[in-house]
Amino acid sequence: MRSKEDLENEIRNVGGDILDSEMFLRGFCQSHHFRSNVSDHELHVTKISLRIAGLFASADREALIRACLCHDMGLIGQRKVVYTTGRMCITQHPLDSATRAEYILGSISDKERDIIEHHMFPLVLNSPDSKEAVIICIADKLCALFEPFTVRSMSVKLHSRLRIPVHAMA
Ligand SMILES: [Fe+2]
Ligand SMILES: [Fe+2]
Repeated sequence: MRSKEDLENEIRNVGGDILDSEMFLRGFCQSHHFRSNVSDHELHVTKISLRIAGLFASADREALIRACLCHDMGLIGQRKVVYTTGRMCITQHPLDSATRAEYILGSISDKERDIIEHHMFPLVLNSPDSKEAVIICIADKLCALFEPFTVRSMSVKLHSRLRIPVHAMA
């Protein structure tokens, strides 16, 4: 199994453009899952997805990293204004996240779009096409369960190891 350091170096190397983006930094100010926020959640989902992907030699880890880091970006901003119902939020934010990923990265692959747009399955009925999209569906639900119990100081240390300038915000 890869070490925590190897995993985090992989995330920094593949996802550096996303980690350094203004949208990703904004996500630390957007509350999500009670005690967490959008960008910490995206980091957790990325790490758990890579752990699950380690079980499959053929997993596309680069697509997984890029998509996981962007999968909830649609929630950043006036989410209660943009999404007037809970159902609308569940169905629409994956599509808006894909649009924001495209904006940050210039373009996204079909697999990255599949991972982002179908990550809410089975809460929405659009099912994943790739195993990487199935992986994020599992990781996303696991993270939603444990994030209400995460410790803030652990996130601060993670930001430091990934060289994310969270402290430079606001
Ligand atoms: Fe989501
Ligand atoms: Fe999520």
